[in-house]
Amino acid sequence: MPGMSSLSSGERIHLVDKKGRHYALTLKAGETYQFSGQTIPHDALIGRPDATMVTLSGGKKMLALRPTFGDYVLKMPRGAQVLYPKDLALIPMWADVYPGARVFEAGTGSGALTMALLRAVGPRGLVVTYEMREDFSRVARLNIDRYMGPMPHLVTVRKNAYEGIDLPDDGVPFDRVVLDLPEPWQVVPHAAAVLRSGGIYLSFVPTVPQVMQTVEALERTTVFAMVETFETLLRTWSIQGRSVRPDHRMVAHSGFITVARKVEPGVLTPEGEQGMSGEASGHGPEREEME
Ligand SMILES: C[S@@+](CC[C@H](N)C(=O)[O-])C[C@H]1O[C@@H](n2cnc3c(N)ncnc32)[C@H](O)[C@@H]1O
Repeated sequence: MPGMSSLSSGERIHLVDKKGRHYALTLKAGETYQFSGQTIPHDALIGRPDATMVTLSGGKKMLALRPTFGDYVLKMPRGAQVLYPKDLALIPMWADVYPGARVFEAGTGSGALTMALLRAVGPRGLVVTYEMREDFSRVARLNIDRYMGPMPHLVTVRKNAYEGIDLPDDGVPFDRVVLDLPEPWQVVPHAAAVLRSGGIYLSFVPTVPQVMQTVEALERTTVFAMVETFETLLRTWSIQGRSVRPDHRMVAHSGFITVARKVEPGVLTPEGEQGMSGEASGHGPEREEME
């Protein structure tokens, strides 16, 4: 588990080769790890410090380390497609998920975003997550347990979010609603019902028609203001001596993030007047110009 001093039996670690490729394994005393014809006993890894160089039977050297959250997510077992680390980093910021916040999430998928939300709300917060598929829900729970340990402030529910959202047991509304499922517009009216005034709605979808339907649904409720949609591109660079250039390959597209703020009824008209919706403020240079 993260935070412990030396690598121990039962924990998930990564072996990283000199090209930066990651191979995940769960340490178990007495077992042997095999990698293209070479081996290393787990006992040679258990008890070693985090981020140590180890040598396989054929002489191959690999770095043994605890995965970061981003590394872990990319290698963990998947039910559904996980969000990329760049989106996992942005979502808690743009949804302004703060320590102690009460967050509703759907669908859980493989649990990557759930973990990002749990990290952001901390032990005083609450994350309620709906997943329609039992098998995905089980994979997510295993992934979360293995990386984060027991999470008493996580509630996983097998439920169709299009049919409605239940308030938490104490009846207090959610501070944030975060969605990564195919038809978020079907959840928008339910989000409007369970979010507190001032609460934030955020959804992630891969295609433009999905964004259009989502924004139309947000506008129809007349309680969501400051609706903005953006995407982000992450371009890594190769830096070798005087050869400094962008890498040839990148993930060119993941999805669009739409964010909105819930306001008191009556602030907006169905036409979305007062310039309260539709302008992308983006938290970037345009925002500075506006201020
Ligand atoms: C793209 S995945 C979510 C991945 C997740 N964010 C992650 O990072 O691991 C979408 C998930 O939504 C679930 N889903 C689709 N429609 C749903 C609904 N109406 N209610 C609840 N879950 C739903 C799917 O079964 C799938 O697991």
